[in-house]
Amino acid sequence: MFLTPWVSPHFTIRLLILITSPLPALCADDSVLRFIDPLIGSTNGGNVFAGATRPYGLAKAVADVDGQNTGGFSTDGSNVVGFSAVHDSGTGGNPSMGNFPLFPQLCPGDEVNNCDFRIGDRATPYVASSVAASPGYFAVELRSGIKTSMTSSEHAALFRFEFPSGNGTQHPLVLLDLTDLWKSRQNATVSVDAENARMKGNGTFLPSFGAGSYVMHYCVDFFGGRVFDNGVWVNNRGGTEPKGLYVTRGFNLFYLEAGGWARFSGLANNTLTARVGISFISADQACRSAATEIPSPLSDFDRLVKEAEDAWEEKLAPISVDAGGVSDELQKSFWSGIYRTMISPQNYTGENPHWDSGIPYFDSFYCIWDSFRVQHPLLTIVDPKAQVQMVNSLLDIYQHEGWLPDCHMSLCNGWTQGGSNADVVLVDAYVKNLTGIDWELALKAIIQDAEVEPLEWAFHGRGGLQSWRDLDYIPYLDFDPVGFGTNSRSISRTLEYAYNDYCLATLAQGLGHVDLYNKYVARSTNWQNIWRAQQTSAIRGRDTGFTGFFQPKYQNGTWGFQDPIDCSALSRFCSLTSNPSETFEASVWQYQFLVPHSISTLIEHMGGEKRFLDRLDFFHTSGLADISNEPVFSTVYLYHYAGRPGLSTKRLHTYIPSAFNASHGGLPGNDDSGSMGAFVVFGMLGLFPISGQDVYLISAPFFAGINVTSPVTGKTAQIKTVGFDSGYKNIFIQNVTVNGKPWTKSWIGHAFFSEGWTMEVVLGSQESGWGTKLEDRPPSWGDSGTAKVADLL
Ligand SMILES: *[C@@H]1O[C@H](CO)[C@@H](O)[C@H](O)[C@H]1NC(C)=O
Ligand SMILES: *[C@@H]1O[C@H](CO)[C@@H](O)[C@H](O)[C@H]1NC(C)=O
Ligand SMILES: *[C@@H]1O[C@H](CO)[C@@H](O)[C@H](O)[C@H]1NC(C)=O
Ligand SMILES: *[C@@H]1O[C@H](CO)[C@@H](O)[C@H](O)[C@H]1NC(C)=O
Ligand SMILES: *[C@@H]1O[C@H](CO)[C@@H](O)[C@H](O)[C@H]1NC(C)=O
Ligand SMILES: *[C@@H]1O[C@H](CO)[C@@H](O)[C@H](O)[C@H]1NC(C)=O
Ligand SMILES: *[C@@H]1O[C@H](CO)[C@@H](O)[C@H](O)[C@H]1NC(C)=O
Ligand SMILES: *[C@@H]1O[C@H](CO)[C@@H](O)[C@H](O)[C@H]1NC(C)=O
Ligand SMILES: *[C@@H]1O[C@H](CO)[C@@H](O)[C@H](O)[C@H]1NC(C)=O
Ligand SMILES: *[C@@H]1O[C@H](CO)[C@@H](O)[C@H](O)[C@H]1NC(C)=O
Repeated sequence: MFLTPWVSPHFTIRLLILITSPLPALCADDSVLRFIDPLIGSTNGGNVFAGATRPYGLAKAVADVDGQNTGGFSTDGSNVVGFSAVHDSGTGGNPSMGNFPLFPQLCPGDEVNNCDFRIGDRATPYVASSVAASPGYFAVELRSGIKTSMTSSEHAALFRFEFPSGNGTQHPLVLLDLTDLWKSRQNATVSVDAENARMKGNGTFLPSFGAGSYVMHYCVDFFGGRVFDNGVWVNNRGGTEPKGLYVTRGFNLFYLEAGGWARFSGLANNTLTARVGISFISADQACRSAATEIPSPLSDFDRLVKEAEDAWEEKLAPISVDAGGVSDELQKSFWSGIYRTMISPQNYTGENPHWDSGIPYFDSFYCIWDSFRVQHPLLTIVDPKAQVQMVNSLLDIYQHEGWLPDCHMSLCNGWTQGGSNADVVLVDAYVKNLTGIDWELALKAIIQDAEVEPLEWAFHGRGGLQSWRDLDYIPYLDFDPVGFGTNSRSISRTLEYAYNDYCLATLAQGLGHVDLYNKYVARSTNWQNIWRAQQTSAIRGRDTGFTGFFQPKYQNGTWGFQDPIDCSALSRFCSLTSNPSETFEASVWQYQFLVPHSISTLIEHMGGEKRFLDRLDFFHTSGLADISNEPVFSTVYLYHYAGRPGLSTKRLHTYIPSAFNASHGGLPGNDDSGSMGAFVVFGMLGLFPISGQDVYLISAPFFAGINVTSPVTGKTAQIKTVGFDSGYKNIFIQNVTVNGKPWTKSWIGHAFFSEGWTMEVVLGSQESGWGTKLEDRPPSWGDSGTAKVADLL
């Protein structure tokens, strides 16, 4: 079935080889691309974008389904409803983008009105075994016998539709639907060229997790056959006149399904090629990009795939791995994890209709609450140039929209989930010495987050700032007439605002503003004000044995109450609008660990190291830990702070591969633009970043050796192991040397990467004394026994 001429010659070879080995043919046998499987996380809620894209590309071609379609396609066995050219990846909100899908079909009896136009009518199952995905390439066969394959350039997608042969009288039809995956269209236009069937137009849509609306433009050209007839369709009827359409929402917001269609004859090899240009600026720009990037659609397919592969190889080139006998599955988790961190944010340079600052512009920060923890720190290591452009885009957004975003997609503001966490992204870049960023501007932007409450803090800035200043915590049921947002999450917002202020203090100190440092480092202790020392926690009536938890506190200082297990898997799900609670998308049990700057003080509150370690173990083994959401990430490693770094590695192995693996359902939750992927990558690397601080916690790597070459300095950081075993018996670090000298600290700074240091890690099967001494623990503010982050600046 795969070896028919509908597939590219490359692809034919690739599949022939697939029969005998897992190596794709397009890349050399030793290319890491063989370890990239875009289908990881394509079902079970991973919501990844599984189709063809270049690194950070605007154009993202894939088949869209009617099942788990947040990222377009899913291996959930649902039906294909279209093929579209723009998507987000791993997101959790509503299905994102997927605007202006095409759909190919044969009309029974060769009658246009026997074709199925509406989504519900045209939905067609796909042949599960036909799904093929690799960097820059996606293919799937529909149950109708139509075989599709696709690739993309930066701003355009190329689709090939091969119709079943054997019926000379049929005129294959392709329709364009004026919709998006979420059916959020407000109004849209299509014009169909009678001669060549070019379809052009635009539409106004809603961002999938945000405010406002955006306009997207398109330009579709067809190649490989003659135009037979064409026109527009509305509901389930098509006609050859008129050749254009403007569709809007009716008086009751009725969603009218409509678009353009064209039929073709004389297809070479029964294959119709469609080239889709996309632009946020104009339809003419969409046509221009498509024509420039894909000038010869009938012969460009393989070149585009090859260019995409080359671009991906280049992005992955900084890393090399000596697997040491570790399975292909684990290597796939690792490399695919890096790959997915470079799908979004997306490079919209030259595509921002609102302003042009003459610098690269990135969008689809979806969302920073997820991505500040590990995705951006990973990009800082493997693609610092892109990270600088992203940071500058955040500052660009600040200058033009007035605020740093907490989430931003399709050129619109996304909803804020907790604090103003772009602050952390900026400060993380600062402590890691990224250059080409205006740090005084960054300071100004972050101070605004800390001091000025916007009217709409639902999508930027912070709410409750008056209370934050006067009471030093965010009160339960705050009285806040200044600005508006979901008035909940008083616990998680207090914790995040405290850390945001700590990051602000770090930047202020680095820039020499001592007064600002003192002010904000004091505010970073505000989390202690909602610690209720007497609070207990029970599960189904049984006391957990731990006392002292964060609790909501009213403005008058009286404690409120939220069951510490509420908003965990043992209770119910809580989000912004579904069951808003005092903690966002996680329980008090989860949030109790989210004081990244001051863990040693937290340990004191929890009754000392032994009780802290017990709490961590209980959390991870009782069903309270939610490995599917980002706040959990750091808790896997907090054993370091109590002098037991070996237990962090041990805990990590309970999640990889059991919760993160290379299967299609191999992510425990939404990938969130590669956040889950980055967690796996840092885990396997044996270094975990505490974002906003110049700190990586050292754990045992999952590979025998790893090199990371800094794309900025060109120096190579090496991680070597002694005593590595691929069965992971020896997961405990016995000793570490850095550049040949003993390294007793359980953490290291970013200079490891930028200066290209060499770390040798001796592994054994038992916990050792390495990293256990008080002075060797990771930095924690307020603890005189350990190094301060500031000492590293
Ligand atoms: C049709 O298929 C043949 C055999 O694969 C190939 O050589 C030829 O280039 C194809 N023609 C077009 C127009 O794609
Ligand atoms: C072939 O086309 C004819 C005429 O449109 C139609 O009646 C017939 O059902 C088609 N056969 C197949 C196998 O699609
Ligand atoms: C399309 O809808 C948007 C959002 O409702 C509105 O601002 C715009 O004016 C509409 N455009 C037209 C041409 O009706
Ligand atoms: C959308 O297309 C219509 C029809 O070509 C045009 O009149 C309108 O100006 C376009 N809208 C935008 C925002 O470019
Ligand atoms: C984004 O695109 C612009 C314009 O092509 C380019 O200058 C910039 O380097 C790109 N950024 C990355 C990280 O590739
Ligand atoms: C504080 O406010 C809460 C909520 O309005 C109320 O239930 C409580 O009685 C108040 N406490 C005092 C001491 O007034
Ligand atoms: C792979 O990960 C998924 C998602 O976390 C999990 O449900 C599944 O059990 C894992 N599979 C294996 C074999 O561990
Ligand atoms: C890392 O680089 C060193 C020096 O070039 C080399 O000897 C070693 O094999 C490399 N290790 C890996 C895992 O690529
Ligand atoms: C670890 O290194 C120390 C010196 O730094 C040495 O005394 C000790 O024997 C080493 N332990 C192991 C298990 O290699
Ligand atoms: C950043 O630069 C400063 C000044 O050159 C240096 O002292 C510090 O070690 C650097 N930090 C990192 C993480 O490279």
